[in-house]
Amino acid sequence: MKRLRVMTIFGTRPEAVKMAPLVAELSRRPGIESLCCVTAQHREMLDAVLRIFRLRPDYDLDVMEPRQTLSTITSKCLMGVEEVLQEARPDLVLVHGDTSTTFSAALAAFYQQVKVGHVEAGLRTYDKYSPFPEEINRTLVGDLADLHFCPTPANRDNLAREGITQGVFLTGNTVIDAMAATVREDFCFSTPLLNQLDYRNRRVILVTCHRRENYGAPMAHILTALGRLVENHPEVELVYPVHLSPVVREAAAKYLSGRPRVHLIEPLDVEEMHNLMARCCLVMTDSGGLQEEAPALGKPVLVLRRETERPEAVAAGTVKLAGTEEEAVYRLGAELLEDQAAYGKMAHAVNPYGDGHACRRIADAIEWSFGLRAEPPEPFQA
Ligand code: UD1
Ligand code: UDP
Repeated sequence: MKRLRVMTIFGTRPEAVKMAPLVAELSRRPGIESLCCVTAQHREMLDAVLRIFRLRPDYDLDVMEPRQTLSTITSKCLMGVEEVLQEARPDLVLVHGDTSTTFSAALAAFYQQVKVGHVEAGLRTYDKYSPFPEEINRTLVGDLADLHFCPTPANRDNLAREGITQGVFLTGNTVIDAMAATVREDFCFSTPLLNQLDYRNRRVILVTCHRRENYGAPMAHILTALGRLVENHPEVELVYPVHLSPVVREAAAKYLSGRPRVHLIEPLDVEEMHNLMARCCLVMTDSGGLQEEAPALGKPVLVLRRETERPEAVAAGTVKLAGTEEEAVYRLGAELLEDQAAYGKMAHAVNPYGDGHACRRIADAIEWSFGLRAEPPEPFQA
């Protein structure tokens, strides 16, 4: 019997973390031939994830350039994916989320009249420039896709409002599946600092900040606020694994280097990241993925952005939007460090994004959509 050819395409660190468990699940299905193509929009940060999840792509476009622009990534991925699709001829292409890789791979598949499945579909802020360019990337992929795998009911409702109701599945987010493989109580870090930190008696704050719309003044305000937080709270150790983008590295060095108790370190392997998150007291971030992971680990999150497409954990009380103004970021951070009750209110584990079975539901939904299974999957119950 001819197997269904499913090609998973991704290019950046977060896509890799969230697609790796799905590639593994697809590979276990006898009716599916699973192929994997990476654009390598990220190089080192992608390779680190591939290593942890022992994933060997069938195709690698190796597109990354230093200080790449949105147009160069998009055009290189579009051309590269087209060639791969012409050679591999899959029945379905799977893309993830909202990056330039996501959009160009979906567009290339559409041009080849190959069906597209969108993992992590339906997230919206309805603000064209925030997050930039992700909001428009994911909206356009919503139009290009044939199958839409929504993590939460709110994501599904967003698509329904846009008239997308066919081929929509409520699955949960695959990131929660990924965490089942990474978080361990007896984890030993390979970054020495992370083994040395006294997580019990010090207040370890985990920071990440990389979004394009935060480049420039917003990042300067955020980093200045973080510097003040550390200065005024002697019990704080701030750990900031700095993204490899030169723009981010220059800003982090300018505002935070040389300060005692501020640890600017290299990007972490995802296992180290998840286990650090499980041990820290507070997460301050503009990352999408961290907003989903930290609540599952019971860690309060201050989001360093004006808006979020992930309102579920805000509603559950574990995430707050801090914005990008220096005073607001400082004030909210200080409140959580100084007010035990305020901290306690936010520090409880919630799982609005998934139950660890998203990949199984996505694979079942694919099999059902292509006639390989009699029943569609039961929807994720948030
Ligand atoms: C990209 C995604 C963003 C996602 C983020 C996750 C787009 C437009 N943006 O943003 O949605 O949140 O990834 O991290 O798709 N670099 C390296 N090595 C690496 C990775 C990056 O040196 O492994 C440097 C390169 O100089 C590169 C720059 O970082 O040009 C920026 O990378 P890019 O993928 O363009 O943007 P991100 O900010 O990472
Ligand atoms: N991450 C990681 N090492 C780091 C920073 C992040 O492994 O130093 C992981 C993080 O746990 C999450 C994903 O990378 O799974 C999020 O990536 P990022 O913040 O770069 O992108 P976003 O989610 O904002 O698109």
